[in-house]
Amino acid sequence: MFDEFRFNTIERLPNYIFAEVNAIKMAARRAGEDIIDFSMGNPDGKTPQHIINKLCESANKEKTSGYSTSMGIYKLRLAICTWYKRKYGIYLDPENEVVATMGSKEAFVNLARAVINPGDVVVVPTPSYPIHTQAFIIAGGNVAKMPLLYNDAFELDENIFFENLQKTFNESIPRPKFVVVNFPHNPTTVTANKSFYERLVAMAKKERFYIISDIAYAELTFDGYKTPSIFQIEDAKEVAVETYTLSKSYNMAGWRVGFMVGNKKLIAALKKIKSWFDYGMYTPIQVAATIALDGDQSCVDEIRAVYDKRMHTLLDVFENAGWKLLKPRASMFVWAKLPEGKRHLKSLEFSKQLLQKANVAVSPGIGFGEAGDEYIRIALIENENRIRQAARNIKKYLKEGE
Ligand SMILES: Cc1ncc(COP(=O)(O)O)c(C=O)c1O
Repeated sequence: MFDEFRFNTIERLPNYIFAEVNAIKMAARRAGEDIIDFSMGNPDGKTPQHIINKLCESANKEKTSGYSTSMGIYKLRLAICTWYKRKYGIYLDPENEVVATMGSKEAFVNLARAVINPGDVVVVPTPSYPIHTQAFIIAGGNVAKMPLLYNDAFELDENIFFENLQKTFNESIPRPKFVVVNFPHNPTTVTANKSFYERLVAMAKKERFYIISDIAYAELTFDGYKTPSIFQIEDAKEVAVETYTLSKSYNMAGWRVGFMVGNKKLIAALKKIKSWFDYGMYTPIQVAATIALDGDQSCVDEIRAVYDKRMHTLLDVFENAGWKLLKPRASMFVWAKLPEGKRHLKSLEFSKQLLQKANVAVSPGIGFGEAGDEYIRIALIENENRIRQAARNIKKYLKEGE
């Protein structure tokens, strides 16, 4: 019935590439196979106890079960400001420059809905975390992709970035209004330095575009690397917003808490659209999130140490299995170039073979854009024993092909 009805928004959305690998994974699990699952950036650790305790305490109180406020309760917005002050020495106004969101994903989707006019162009470096492009497609915009280039230490090549960005601006009609950046980057783990943001803010003022910066992995950094915030650059608030999430640094992915801060005009737009879509997160979640950001931060160090240890183990045992990978400076991922003998397969077929022949699930790089097709993304969400088992399985699989 009604075959003539078209759902334009849905038709513009691509099929979910990870679905194919997921279907094989589920079928293998149903058949009783023990799949070692590195596929999703979904933390396996438990939320720190003091945060859970605060949630329970708040849930047991009177007057915490009703509708909350969609921009976030004042105390949470204040804790977000304190987080920025403590970590970066940056002052934010909790009334006009901060909005709490149901994770960064929601921040992207609703910001795009609020500010994109049909046909507006948004520049996104690729490969990219899917919502960085799809949020704008859902909102009726268009995405201009530009390649993200980096060295063997997964450091951004700044000069090439700005050359490519300028080229994208020169070639795009209409001129892009927004540029999305995400460092440490998902999926490539690429990091950027403060000098990058200096140049980006200067270019935004000159070329007249807004910057949306995603620092989801800000706290998951290794070997002394520290994630900069765009607001360390003077006047960045004139042209930028930044989003962060509690999902990764506090093992709170399922809680759905994050925030967006910065430019007053964009924050006001996000607040306004959210006030029409939601009544805010459950108040006890917001209270617990306040404690997460404001309380003892040793839990963050512990979570970082878990990923660091897993990463070292993985690099070590995978090398032993015949697959040498390069070390990231940040994130919870290893961005792994396909082993030499398997490069012809490309990422989707290789991921399927890893599942079927080694019982190991990963994300094929093609799911993040064509630029990712020589890679797979390994999320460090299995413990070290499981990582070692994965390496043994992979060693056998790689040997078979020789
Ligand atoms: C770069 C990046 N941004 C945002 C998100 C979404 O985080 P949230 O759980 O806050 O929606 C993710 C999740 O994997 C991510 O990798």
